[in-house]
Amino acid sequence: MQTFLVTGGVGFIGSNFILKARQEQWANIINLDKLTYASNPQTVAQLQDDSGYHFVRGDIGDIQLLHHVLEQYQPDAIINFAAESHVDRSILSPQDFIQTNVVGTFQLLEASRAYWEKLSPQKREQFRFLHVSTDEVYGSLGSTDPAFREDTPYAPNSPYAASKAGSDHLVRAYFHTYGLPTLITNCSNNYGPRQFPEKLIPLMILHALNGKSLPIYGDGQNIRDWLYVVDHCEALYIVLKHSRIGETYNIGGNNEQKNLTVVEKICAILDELAPKPDFRHSSLITYVKDRPGHDRRYAIDCSKISSELGWQPKENFESGLLKTIHWYLSNPTWVEQVQSGAYAQWIMHNYGDREAVLSN
Ligand code: NAD
Ligand code: DAU
Repeated sequence: MQTFLVTGGVGFIGSNFILKARQEQWANIINLDKLTYASNPQTVAQLQDDSGYHFVRGDIGDIQLLHHVLEQYQPDAIINFAAESHVDRSILSPQDFIQTNVVGTFQLLEASRAYWEKLSPQKREQFRFLHVSTDEVYGSLGSTDPAFREDTPYAPNSPYAASKAGSDHLVRAYFHTYGLPTLITNCSNNYGPRQFPEKLIPLMILHALNGKSLPIYGDGQNIRDWLYVVDHCEALYIVLKHSRIGETYNIGGNNEQKNLTVVEKICAILDELAPKPDFRHSSLITYVKDRPGHDRRYAIDCSKISSELGWQPKENFESGLLKTIHWYLSNPTWVEQVQSGAYAQWIMHNYGDREAVLSN
């Protein structure tokens, strides 16, 4: 069986990828993660007795550690999920985004190149470096603009998006300059189990369950394309196994939704699954000050991955949202762990001065 080095595998998408990879026996996994605020070791605790899984605590910016890990485990592929990933944090404090997303990816590329150049010709041929990126690098769409394609020019608008764009350019350059067999994927908003509750869907689920207000930025008419995380993980595996090196693929859910609609759907499901005796969850909706530079609409054209590699998302939004809400209702210990300590400070920091601007 092959071995994959997964970075950032204690975070949301990386952990879902690792759990799927072990379940489907795609590969043995080495998980390198710094364990930032966005991670919870409980997320991958079920793998602790799995001999095909090894965890290494470390930073993708630590090149000595990377050399050592690559030498020791001899991976057949590297899948880079490690990143600072939250737009609001990048607005309030961009430094870590440059350090991990740009400098960290650079160090990971350098270590990968040194490792790859020493492999046997057969292993060199098979090796892959898959960089997981975002549709935010393409900027913002108007309501009638065509969806993002792989050849849409980059136009990042937040420090987060700019740092991801920088990392994508570095990955591309390592393919063209050094021949490192790289792949890039740019996906839309993921949702599903194990997402840190700073992001829209888990934040709204947990606030609603606790009877707290549901803070909608601006007018709530911004549009995102929602992709169920397991569909995304399957797409990544297909890209890794079957695509041509040096290629980029957009991955989306074919599922554009206004933020307000997403929150109303969450409220309607919770009215069924966890009814409150004296109010409907939608009465908690509150409009607050907008995110600076808030991108209006993202939409992904995933015809390339669909026609070249035969991938399509399987989950529809209704079933995916229901599964997601069930997961948060069934995992109170996980929720408690990620909400302890620094999380409360984040909520104060981000929402404290976003006074309600309209009420429903
Ligand atoms: P996340 O924030 O949930 O997890 C990131 C993980 O990376 C955490 O476990 C964290 O500890 C780890 N990490 C951070 N800095 C590190 C470093 N310097 N070295 C090693 N590990 C480090 O992120 P996510 O939502 O799982 O996103 C994964 C990747 O997918 C990111 O690259 C993100 O940009 C991209 N992406 C995410 C989405 C989404 O909707 N969540 C959409 C498009 C692209
Ligand atoms: O598009 C892919 C990107 O999706 C990823 O690259 C990012 O890592 C990921 O965080 C996500 O970015 P967004 O900014 O789109 O996700 P977020 O969940 O933060 O917000 C989704 C939308 O909801 C956005 O329009 C802002 C809005 N929002 C968000 C929060 C947290 C609110 O209205 N209220 C909130 O409290």
